[in-house]
Amino acid sequence: MSLAVMQKDGLHVEGVALTEVAARFGTPCYVYSRAALTAAYAAYRDALQAHGLADRSLICYAVKANSNLAILNVFARLGAGFDIVSGGELARVIAAGGAADKVVFSGVGKSRVEMRAALEAGIHCFNVESASELAQLSEVAGSVGRRAPVSLRVNPDVDARTHPYISTGLKSAKFGVAFGEAFDLYRRAAALPHIAVKGIDCHIGSQLLDPAPAAEAADKVLALVDRLAAAGIALEHIDLGGGMGIQYRADEPAPTASAYLAPMLAKLEGRREQLVFEPGRSLVGNAGLLLTHVAVLKPGEEKHFAVVDAAMNDLMRPALYDAWHEIVPVSATKVGAGGTAVDTPMNYEIVGPVCESGDFLGHDRVLTLNEGDLLAILSAGAYGMAMASNYNSRPRAAEVMIDGNDIHLIRRREMVPELFALESVLP
Ligand code: LLP
Repeated sequence: MSLAVMQKDGLHVEGVALTEVAARFGTPCYVYSRAALTAAYAAYRDALQAHGLADRSLICYAVKANSNLAILNVFARLGAGFDIVSGGELARVIAAGGAADKVVFSGVGKSRVEMRAALEAGIHCFNVESASELAQLSEVAGSVGRRAPVSLRVNPDVDARTHPYISTGLKSAKFGVAFGEAFDLYRRAAALPHIAVKGIDCHIGSQLLDPAPAAEAADKVLALVDRLAAAGIALEHIDLGGGMGIQYRADEPAPTASAYLAPMLAKLEGRREQLVFEPGRSLVGNAGLLLTHVAVLKPGEEKHFAVVDAAMNDLMRPALYDAWHEIVPVSATKVGAGGTAVDTPMNYEIVGPVCESGDFLGHDRVLTLNEGDLLAILSAGAYGMAMASNYNSRPRAAEVMIDGNDIHLIRRREMVPELFALESVLP
């Protein structure tokens, strides 16, 4: 939330004015801070350190949260591993300089092609989510003459108490091996010639602000690890997934990494297994914002609309989850007040140009706006650009990373001809 700091010439990220970013790269534009990414990673690492766990832990950044190569590269340089869910993400990690042997591969529907690519790259572990996947992986590993390193992703049937779309740890979810079936599946896995049983994995959901469900899941996982050890199946690592929530609303209390992780980490002290974590949102969410210009002000009888140049295709979270992102003016200076100038604060619906009523970025925002004003949509570093689309044939936004006083363009804005370059008309 505190990524941007107000100065005389408006909001700054690190040493750079956002007005300068908009002038150079246009809007909509995602802006990330290298310092904020680094600080978020350090907070996770420090929390592990406080429990004496840093040396035997691997923080695998969940690539799906934001897969830009520059972001992956920043984490690779910090020593992170990566949690991937597709062959595409594996290719990105490798292209960004990530180490394949620090990659864990999650997901309920890995294809055989993806399995082979990951085996050939030599990843750390497959997080296997079903008996069928285990059988397929064993076959693929046999066909390339390797043993696949495997964890079972168990579903601990714990209610993460988050948005239902991002809650994954209940029995009713498609994710993971049912807790009651995991022990037997481990026994079968241990007997398969092309499978090397390495660990256990669990991820119960995302945007969790209460540490209790993750701690409860850890208890269940640890009990299973001990039961497996007693049966002669000694696991080398325990992967407790991601899910730590971040502060989206200015008035929302969000735990620090150390406070959120403490109850879970307390249970892991003194164990001998390697620990793996898969944080996504908490490493990037508050390290990014989306810059947008006010295109049109449309006062109405019931509602006042501010149509901005970013839309649901750029940031889908409000439309999809009714998610809240703070929206703040970048500058007190009004620019290009051509149309309806409004100088007193008004209650606005902040909407995009896409042809859907669900295309909103924020409801009921009290702001003083003029056409041409720059706005920053905060906490947009996670699941923002990663979920962007070309709906309405809108080129995807540019992305820049601020590093001190430097601005790096890390993805140029798409150009319209690129949007249909892969298409062809009938002969
Ligand atoms: N590991 C697995 C297996 C996951 O499925 C996820 C997220 C993560 C790790 C990372 O979780 P995080 O630390 O980011 O909470 N698009 C949604 C979030 C979807 C999360 C999907 N899985 C949103 O915008 O809120």
